[in-house]
Amino acid sequence: MNTQTRKATALAFPNIALIKYWGNRDQSLRLPSNDSLSFNLGDLRTTTTVEFDPLLTRDEVSIDGYKVSAQAYERVAHHLDRLADYSDIAEIDCGERRDMSECRPRARVISNNTFPMGVGIASSASGFAALTLAACAALGIKKSESELSGLARLGSGSACRSVPGGFVAWHDGYAVSIAPPAHWPLMDVIAVVSRAHKAVGSTEGHAMADNSPLQAARLSDTQRRIRQCEEAIANTNFTLLAEVIEQDALLMHGVIMTSQPSVLYWEPATLSVMRAVRELREDGLPVAFSIDAGPNVHCICEAHALKQVKQAIRQIEGVLEVIESGVGGPATVIPHQS
Ligand code: PMV
Repeated sequence: MNTQTRKATALAFPNIALIKYWGNRDQSLRLPSNDSLSFNLGDLRTTTTVEFDPLLTRDEVSIDGYKVSAQAYERVAHHLDRLADYSDIAEIDCGERRDMSECRPRARVISNNTFPMGVGIASSASGFAALTLAACAALGIKKSESELSGLARLGSGSACRSVPGGFVAWHDGYAVSIAPPAHWPLMDVIAVVSRAHKAVGSTEGHAMADNSPLQAARLSDTQRRIRQCEEAIANTNFTLLAEVIEQDALLMHGVIMTSQPSVLYWEPATLSVMRAVRELREDGLPVAFSIDAGPNVHCICEAHALKQVKQAIRQIEGVLEVIESGVGGPATVIPHQS
């Protein structure tokens, strides 16, 4: 029996969508109903080590020091099955069975985040991006950045946007970088108004999107919003960016609120932060809000406005914590020291 372990570590950043992904045209392949745009959050990171060990009888997954079980565990194990299918490592002896996922060695997965989970930062994006890169490196699977992005998408849709660096566009199967981090030093000031685990996760939410009569209208206007956002990024035009990202987030929440069953992610403090952001903008500060599938508000601003934005947001009743990040690079494999 081959007892050689195969190990690799990868680093990935979460991302914040400026134009949101909501709804799938193919649920199991996580092929999106619409294109989306994002930037990576370079000050928040996920580091994941994957070690395939022939002596293990089942995968072991730990996140931030806690053993993962149930649905979250199955999602990781299933992703490893899919990735192993791409491996052609001769030493993995599948015998009569052609299905690599059945005979692959089981893995020890250790993942750590530098940011708290459940605070409106998509840890599944950085998590599945890092898991994909680490597992592929450990299995000797050589793929281009676009291919790795497409594989990460199978674990969590938005994970495909955490593979390339900087400002990123996701069209259908995979995502590509459209501008490096230094192109526009934007900041994301995340106003945490609740740490409660969200009642309806995004996988479930995507499946309900088409139930809303507003989803068709939202989708029919997506390419216009994409063009406006791309133009805003290309010309570093904050006024144009603010208008389109707020409208896009509100369109997604309109769909979420009118899906069946209807989901209300917002807390009273969510609205307080949204209002404060608009007041700050009226006073001349380049800041705009975006909200993912949860109550916490991402206040996107230009770097020179960071101090004032943070100060103002912190004072709002109901804001429990403020987390900040600039634009980050691509996911990478970290060489092991031997
Ligand atoms: O990748 P998922 O399935 O967690 O979906 C992400 C959905 C949003 O965060 C709400 C929007 C987006 O584009 O990131």
